[in-house]
Amino acid sequence: MRATITAIAHHVPEAVFDNHWFESRLDTTDEWIQSRTGIRERHFAFEGGLSDILVPSALEALSRRGLRPEDVELIIVATVTGDRVFPSTASIIQNKIGAVNAWGFDLAGACSGFLYALITAAKMVESGTIKNVLLCSGDKMSAITNFEDRSTCVLFGDGGGCLVIEPTDDNSIGIIDYVLKMDGRGEPHLHQKAGGSLRPPSIETVTNREHFVYQDGKTVFKSAVIGMADASHEIMVRNGLEAKDIAWLIPHQANLRIIDATAQRMGLTKDKVMVNIDRYGNTTAGTIPICISELYEQRKIQKGDALVLSSFGAGYTWGAILVRWGLEKMQ
Ligand code: COA
Repeated sequence: MRATITAIAHHVPEAVFDNHWFESRLDTTDEWIQSRTGIRERHFAFEGGLSDILVPSALEALSRRGLRPEDVELIIVATVTGDRVFPSTASIIQNKIGAVNAWGFDLAGACSGFLYALITAAKMVESGTIKNVLLCSGDKMSAITNFEDRSTCVLFGDGGGCLVIEPTDDNSIGIIDYVLKMDGRGEPHLHQKAGGSLRPPSIETVTNREHFVYQDGKTVFKSAVIGMADASHEIMVRNGLEAKDIAWLIPHQANLRIIDATAQRMGLTKDKVMVNIDRYGNTTAGTIPICISELYEQRKIQKGDALVLSSFGAGYTWGAILVRWGLEKMQ
């Protein structure tokens, strides 16, 4: 039995902040941000938690599939910015949407959270014990962004998407193959210094602004370029695919230069690469579901299309997934 995506929707907060907003607060320029990252604007929600970003798309995805919240069996939330440390945002979303029959959990895979969660969901479904998974994936990065640090605050945004994953007996579609990797030696280069059990919150951690993303951008960049390109290439080779066989590369949106390097390694032309970093920045676990959902809503993917999803992020974590799209074009 194979698992397939049977519905998808996305949501971002309304408020848009363009690069000029940062120009007026920090020593930075629109030109620097666009040329070094590809980002033009991003959305921030200064009120509410991650669940408030994910609930609208959870309800929309269920409605598109014709499921009621009480039909949901399992909720997985991929994020590093859950509403609280505990309980899980999965349980908070369960309560908010009324998915009274579901159990669930959160999964912290950072920028690769969506890939990790998609394979977890697929394997649960393939086991035959779970008939459907509501997979919610996104981040409210504004909650852990240091708006005084120009090297990180211009990079991130808030947003996410939700999918329904179900079994299919159609062998021509579904979540086909995956390459998932992790290298914990990446921890020093990308992390949040305080707030966990190693360094619980204190006046000192707050004063030192340790509850925010810390990133050594240049070091992470070098690993990301290699990791994302290697994993994407490996999934192609393993499945006997050439560039012409792939409909879309749907990459994590952290930096346009990393996306370009991955596409180049795969031999793909720009028209086969989904890019929306210019409008959303890096929404961490939100980037890939937002990309897929936009492609679907724009009627740019059709049943049977080969999609390569690919990411790199904190951990380090990285990987690629091959999906054969299973939905007809959106009506
Ligand atoms: N505006 C203007 N200048 C800035 C700036 C900003 N917002 N942020 C940094 N700079 C400066 C730096 O201070 C540095 O100045 P210096 O040369 O005087 O020291 C200069 O720009 C170049 O910085 P550098 O870090 O070399 O830039 P970069 O080309 O590596 O780009 C990133 C920085 C963060 C955009 C890039 O490294 C990156 O995308 N990293 C990986 C992100 C990623 O994939 N993360 C994983 C998922 S979250």
